[in-house]
Amino acid sequence: MIMLSAVQPSNRLTLGNYLGAIRNWVALQAQYECYFFAVDLHAITLRQDPAELREQTYRALATYIASGIDPEACTLFVQSHVPEHAELAWVLLCHTHMGELSRMTQFKDKSARQGENIPSGLFAYPALMAADILLYDTNLVPVGEDQKQHLEITRDVAIRMNNLYSPRLRAGEKVDEKLEGFERIFWQDPLFTIPQVYIPPVGARIMSLQNPLQKMSKSDPDPQATIFLNDSDDTILKKVKRAVTDSGSEIADQDDKPGIRNLLSIQAVLTGKKIADLVAGYQGKQYGHLKVETGEMIAQALAPVRDETERLMLDRGELDRILKKGALRAREHASRTLNRVYDRLGFISRSR
Ligand code: AQP
Repeated sequence: MIMLSAVQPSNRLTLGNYLGAIRNWVALQAQYECYFFAVDLHAITLRQDPAELREQTYRALATYIASGIDPEACTLFVQSHVPEHAELAWVLLCHTHMGELSRMTQFKDKSARQGENIPSGLFAYPALMAADILLYDTNLVPVGEDQKQHLEITRDVAIRMNNLYSPRLRAGEKVDEKLEGFERIFWQDPLFTIPQVYIPPVGARIMSLQNPLQKMSKSDPDPQATIFLNDSDDTILKKVKRAVTDSGSEIADQDDKPGIRNLLSIQAVLTGKKIADLVAGYQGKQYGHLKVETGEMIAQALAPVRDETERLMLDRGELDRILKKGALRAREHASRTLNRVYDRLGFISRSR
């Protein structure tokens, strides 16, 4: 079984990336054949400073390893080192509808922030993400809640293309596109494996510390809103102390207390405790207690990751060696898939 996931190196990674994605990769890596990468092609859907992008791409991969991803057992690589991603994305884009793409919440949010001159790459983003996933015959994609829509579009396009380009087991049978497990029933030799999404039960959506109705994001213009994985202990404590909460004083898990709920859910992921039990432990205590303890827990959890990331960042030679080996391994699988796709589409084989 194959598992795959990635992060955009568009800035330093955040507590949201760590709790919503990387920690789950670490927990699941022993059960799957894993592909983890940094999606630099995705990052350029918005303008990046070239030197910063290069630095953050190395940093993302160093963070994976520092968090506990085993670079020998898993395939770690940079998206642009495997040109099949961009090639398959074009094919998928030709099978994706404008209406589907324009419904994507991420596109709506990011294009609204962009104002005029919205790069068309931002619109086409889900097709590239679908290519990332489908190239490796991926079974499972662990992501935060925010990526669920992109996974749905990936599945829809894969089903559409399987229906067009995979021999049917029972000719003339009508396909219910939403039916689970249909690929085994309807397609003899499916073009694509249909991926499943894995959303963690807690920590799937870590919210901004300054606007708890918005997700914590690495490109938030307010640095107080986000905990970056290389923030010092002191910075983490200060940011959490300044986190926006309501004006009340009772620590409760309620819709009208999104700031408090966010801190409680961060604690729940870090301690493995239920939110109700955490709330019970805070009876009679003030918001200040919750903030200080949450800040300390975050600092304690992130310190080893931060220190090991910094150590790895000093050895670019070693990181380059890991990435080169990863790209070679990834290309083996990716080129097989792309050849199969080109063949089914009717392209003349390149290897003639
Ligand atoms: N706040 C979050 N809570 C839980 N999970 C999150 N993820 C990101 N933010 C949170 C998960 O991290 C993985 C990688 O996401 P990404 O960095 O590639 O893209 P993104 O979701 O667009 O993250 P950002 O921080 O908002 O990036 P920018 O600011 O560059 O657009 C995914 O699994 C995601 O769910």
